[in-house]
Amino acid sequence: MIRTRIIGTGSYVPPDILTNDNLSEMVDTSDEWIRTRTGICNRHIAKDMDNADMAYNAARNAVEDARIEASKIGLIIVATSTPDYAFPNQASLVQAKLKAVNAMCFDVSAACSGFITALDIAASMLKAGSYKYALVIGSEKMSEIVNWKDRSVCVLFGDGAGAGALVGHERGIIDSNIYNDGTGASVLTGGRRFSDSCSTDIFIHMDGQEVFKFAVKSVPTAIETLLHNNNMDINEVDKFILHQANVRIIESVAKRLKADKDKFPVNLNEYGNTSSASIPILLDELNRNGSLKQGEKLVLAGFGAGLSWGSILLVW
Ligand code: UT7
Repeated sequence: MIRTRIIGTGSYVPPDILTNDNLSEMVDTSDEWIRTRTGICNRHIAKDMDNADMAYNAARNAVEDARIEASKIGLIIVATSTPDYAFPNQASLVQAKLKAVNAMCFDVSAACSGFITALDIAASMLKAGSYKYALVIGSEKMSEIVNWKDRSVCVLFGDGAGAGALVGHERGIIDSNIYNDGTGASVLTGGRRFSDSCSTDIFIHMDGQEVFKFAVKSVPTAIETLLHNNNMDINEVDKFILHQANVRIIESVAKRLKADKDKFPVNLNEYGNTSSASIPILLDELNRNGSLKQGEKLVLAGFGAGLSWGSILLVW
């Protein structure tokens, strides 16, 4: 059976770091509050670069890791909620920089579930035989839509990009389940409402507690369903690569699944919540430091605005 395999990973985070102490000089917060409530210590901020620059850097690293020629890529999907323009899409901007002249290009808007959504779409298209190679990127410049005066939000987010190069292969993605509940849309919103031309409010608005409750309930259920559908036990999974929003969410998901906490790698302490970029940045770190062994079973899981959530099961 043709599956979709990730044959290369890449990531990029901008060099400028904003620490918890820096933030405590900007709003009424403290390193102690941020660390204990979220696990975040630093976040990286793109000062002199666009979303497309970060997306391209991550994509180039993934293509190099996969050792494929850019001209062989048939599909580029960028998951983002913070594109540089309404149009053209981010994927077109990446295509031009990468000289991936034969790629079909489009973006996916599914917030923090963006990367798993884009990966699921790419996997279907590769499975259908439409393309041999594809590139899926999660890239976010969250600093553009963060209200730096709102302490309930500005301490959480960071900028960055991550990417996966994909090929049709016998080993790879086994199954996925992606869900959405649009009735929860108002719980987490970001960006300007286009119909309100006078509005200067471009910021993220979030009911943090509601999102927290939704995440710790929906993510374990999605993962359990996915494993059940594939006759797998939780102990057969080697690593759970979750969206990096809050370490307390990750610990709670591990507890609810009765899974070993050590199987849930975390890097949000360094990058904060990079939305659609968090899963591929973490995947790239694990790939490059040799933590991912061939044949390991991985579950990727995302959740966020929409409300949207879901999981993907794959063999590395
Ligand atoms: O990517 C997906 C989207 N986002 C998420 O997954 C986020 C999910 N939610 C969360 O991670 C948590 O709800 C937060 C980290 C956002 C907030 O943590 P919490 O434990 O739910 O805190 P809270 O909202 O209940 O606030 C507790 C207190 C409040 O003060 P009072 O009313 O108890 O006096 C807040 O005003 O903490 C206050 N507070 C802060 N204090 C210091 C809120 N933000 C801050 C802050 N520094 N940055």
